[in-house]
Amino acid sequence: MERTFAMIKPDAVRKNVIGEILAMMTQAGFKILGVKMIRITKEQASAFYAVHKERPFYGELVDFMSSGPSVVIALEKDNAVADYRTLIGATDPAEAAEGTIRKRFASSKGENAAHGSDSVENGKIETAFFFSEAEIAANAR
Ligand code: RTP
Ligand code: MG
Repeated sequence: MERTFAMIKPDAVRKNVIGEILAMMTQAGFKILGVKMIRITKEQASAFYAVHKERPFYGELVDFMSSGPSVVIALEKDNAVADYRTLIGATDPAEAAEGTIRKRFASSKGENAAHGSDSVENGKIETAFFFSEAEIAANAR
């Protein structure tokens, strides 16, 4: 079993579609090991997306990610990282496939409803950002 880290971003929380997105995850075969709604601070958003700090959209991204509550989720499934990236769809909703989370719920390339880790290693780092080992272990059986 592989694990990945997901977020429902503030735009999707504002659209009131947390339930629909969680249902898409479970219907695609993911097990939810952890889920909580949090208001990400600017400091957390800056650190979480530090890989993009030289990019022109970084300031906007940090402001957006701290603009309201998000839902952080630890997921488990065979091939979880790649399969969840397929489920969310392309970064830009205009390029996202039918039936993907971003096709259904993203507003724009910046405000795009969902996050998914891009590697197993980053999945571990990102999960540890928001969940303790004990929280995940208690739910993984
Ligand atoms: P994520 O990390 O959030 O799962 O998204 P991703 O891998 O599909 O895309 P990435 O290149 O890592 O970009 C991270 C997030 O930055 C925002 N972004 N805005 N305005 C723009 O051109 C632009 N490009 C990226 C999006 O919120 C994107 O998901
Ligand atoms: Mg990314």
